[in-house]
Amino acid sequence: MCGIVGCMLNDNRKAAPVLLDCAKKLEYRGYDSVGLATYDERIHVKKDEGYIETVDEALNLADMPGNYGIAHVRWASVGKPSKLNSHPHLDEKETVAVVHNGTITNYSELKDKLISEGHKFISQTDTEVISHLIEKFMDEGSDLEHALRRCIELLDGSYAIVAISAKEPNKIVATRKDSPLVLGQKDGSYYLASDIPAMIKYTNRIMELNKKEIVVITKEKLEIHDEHDNIMFRTPIEIDWTPEMVEKNGYEHYMLKEIHDQPESVRRTLLQIDEIKEILDDIGEIEKICIVACGTSYHAALSGKYIIESEARIPTNVVLASEFAHSLNIMDEKTLLIGMSQSGETADTLKALNSIEGPTKLAIVNVEISEMTKIADYTILTKAGPELSVAATKTYTAQVTVMYMIAALLGNNEELLDKLNKVPEYIEDILENSEIIKSMAKTYLYANELFYIGKGFSYPTALEAALKMKEISYIHAEAYASGELKHGPLALIDNNMPVITIIPPGKDHNLTLNSLEEVKARNSRIVTVCSEDDDLVQDKSEECILINPDVDEILAPLVYIVALQLLAYYITIEKKHNPDRPRNLAKTVTV
Ligand code: F6R
Repeated sequence: MCGIVGCMLNDNRKAAPVLLDCAKKLEYRGYDSVGLATYDERIHVKKDEGYIETVDEALNLADMPGNYGIAHVRWASVGKPSKLNSHPHLDEKETVAVVHNGTITNYSELKDKLISEGHKFISQTDTEVISHLIEKFMDEGSDLEHALRRCIELLDGSYAIVAISAKEPNKIVATRKDSPLVLGQKDGSYYLASDIPAMIKYTNRIMELNKKEIVVITKEKLEIHDEHDNIMFRTPIEIDWTPEMVEKNGYEHYMLKEIHDQPESVRRTLLQIDEIKEILDDIGEIEKICIVACGTSYHAALSGKYIIESEARIPTNVVLASEFAHSLNIMDEKTLLIGMSQSGETADTLKALNSIEGPTKLAIVNVEISEMTKIADYTILTKAGPELSVAATKTYTAQVTVMYMIAALLGNNEELLDKLNKVPEYIEDILENSEIIKSMAKTYLYANELFYIGKGFSYPTALEAALKMKEISYIHAEAYASGELKHGPLALIDNNMPVITIIPPGKDHNLTLNSLEEVKARNSRIVTVCSEDDDLVQDKSEECILINPDVDEILAPLVYIVALQLLAYYITIEKKHNPDRPRNLAKTVTV
């Protein structure tokens, strides 16, 4: 889940500052080590374990010669974070430098063979076999691109690889299989990166690279070769993301900025209505829906289940992608199989979608050039814009927005579509009143654990709010359907267990209130997210986050979650953790 970058600049710019700039935009993919290699008469390398800013302070990463090179940010998978395990990896003669994202599953046997042939390894990584294999094949007479081709023929597992060689100056080669890599070009300069946000400051003219294609970039041209060495023609797609979208724009963290982006990102997603209608008309009759997803996207899918079943009356099954192989997936051509993923690259979700034939497949993704769009028969783009914080926020609300639009269209529910247009304003209200949530964070800073409860439409919101809290604040947070409390979890409730209750107005209000009474009777501290005019709930709560009374339980999943994203964010800030870089996590889970 690392991030990789490459650039070949055809003007007077040095490569290192550009590589560093791009790598900073990929920190959400990994931040335990960073490294750059550039070429100027020889290969120059700077790398170390640590956050980019720390390593940069020590090594001055931008100060490297040459106008082309490669870079890497690491999320350790094989070999712990250390200078030696940081990329780029070289061969022992330092003629080849390689950056890699993915996992080579047969690296041990390849390494043993290379060692028996006299190669000396200095790292514990799987990647180092790649630099040695390229060196070996170049020594045997292959040029750089064919050495890379011969190398990948031996590799099992996933990879995106970018390499340079001192034996063939002014050339970058790259390839990919099951790990992302996109290409960009502008004014004769070329860029490569794991994801579009890395290069959007330099170009929005993006090209995809298909599995096992090899791209060869020289000062003169960019050529893509297929597995049989045929040259492939590819037209760049102009992506509608702007450089400002990947900046913090004055916010302290990407997460806070992205939470504040939500009125606009929901508005943009709502504009997709005609495209979504066209897709659904084209698909035709749908008897049942199955959605596969992981993590936050799974919670968006669960929200979708409640909304679609209630508004369109179509049975909707939601399966964790990692469990998909273990469920009985009976699907025919009248089943719509949806893959929900902000990145479109999540390995488990791709595997689930690939494992089944028969149903129509629909990808709901935030990244236009992604693997999932290639697998699916149809794609709906969530228009959240680039999301750089590891914790998903605006991509979640964009996914839930799409779920509403699908439900409203399949259920011919014009009224719901009209109601959705008010959502951005309701979110704006919450953002404008976030001081209350900020001050509440001080009270819960020392909580060891938190319970979230919600019923019906609000149950997936409780799950997502608890996930946000645990992943960035490291507070143990659990979410339950409120009706489940008395079937076990109530045993955990005492005065040390704050219970955060999501209780919008609607048919489930009174039953949720009953659950709230049950926890209150066990001396729990009651925090509620409820309507501004819900005096009854406010009277029973120690703390309340108040939401516009027009937001009923059907719309609540899109609005109430924003308050709880803010609560997780501010508690994390009080605890002095960096919400953009939660420990042990990376944003795009390609393994
Ligand atoms: C949590 C988070 C993850 C992702 C999950 C799936 O904030 O971001 O739980 O939702 O890894 O990722 P995508 O949506 O890219 O498939």
